[in-house]
Amino acid sequence: MFSLEVCLTPDVLKYYDLHDKNVVVIDILRATSCITTALACGIAKIAPVRELEDCKAYKQQGFITAGERGGQKVEGFDLGNSPFSYHNPELIGKNIAITTSNGTLAIDMSKKDAHKVIVGSFLNIQSVVDCLVKDQRNTILLCAGWKGKPNLEDTFYAGALLFELQNTTKNWTDDSCMMAYHTFLAGKNNPLEFLSQSSHYQRLLNFGNLEDIKFCLTRNVYDVLPVMEGDFLINALLSE
Ligand code: MLT
Repeated sequence: MFSLEVCLTPDVLKYYDLHDKNVVVIDILRATSCITTALACGIAKIAPVRELEDCKAYKQQGFITAGERGGQKVEGFDLGNSPFSYHNPELIGKNIAITTSNGTLAIDMSKKDAHKVIVGSFLNIQSVVDCLVKDQRNTILLCAGWKGKPNLEDTFYAGALLFELQNTTKNWTDDSCMMAYHTFLAGKNNPLEFLSQSSHYQRLLNFGNLEDIKFCLTRNVYDVLPVMEGDFLINALLSE
């Protein structure tokens, strides 16, 4: 029975051993939801990077630049961080470089040591569950949080994964699993209402992004599995 651990923020990732484990990176509002949507809508590959300058460097190689800082589009970038940006047929087959406040940082921190880095969102939750069940490998659910602190929506999603996997494994190794699981139980009947007082929900609401929030909380819109291959995220379901 494979083990599941929840890391509530990348700032405590140093206490987790990633070797030989799968890592599911979680940034529900909105980085991992955007990445899921981008690959589902036909983006060929995605370079997730930490810094604005790294993103700009990819532009020289013909990549589209995307991302946010503080929840808002970066000046001079082609796209912000709304999943709806990718509902555009002109982007099919293109490559993007993306940098976000927390999500791409969490991906970057995992990629060196993890066996496999998987991007998780509600939009592809069943694809993530299927992958973990198939792999039967010890797994860390890494919440991106907000600037080093845990947040409600990523913890809630980690709990949703534990809930979906509870008949497969209940080998939970730490209290953060219980925290995530009970967070999910508390909000599962009305996620939008449950998350409505959370900090990034409020931040995005102030920027007029309620539709993004609602979309990011929708389950199983896409059958897509973003996985790191070298420096890029690709849809692993296309190569199965
Ligand atoms: C993040 O990386 O924290 C998010 O992508 C922020 C956002 O989309 O507003």
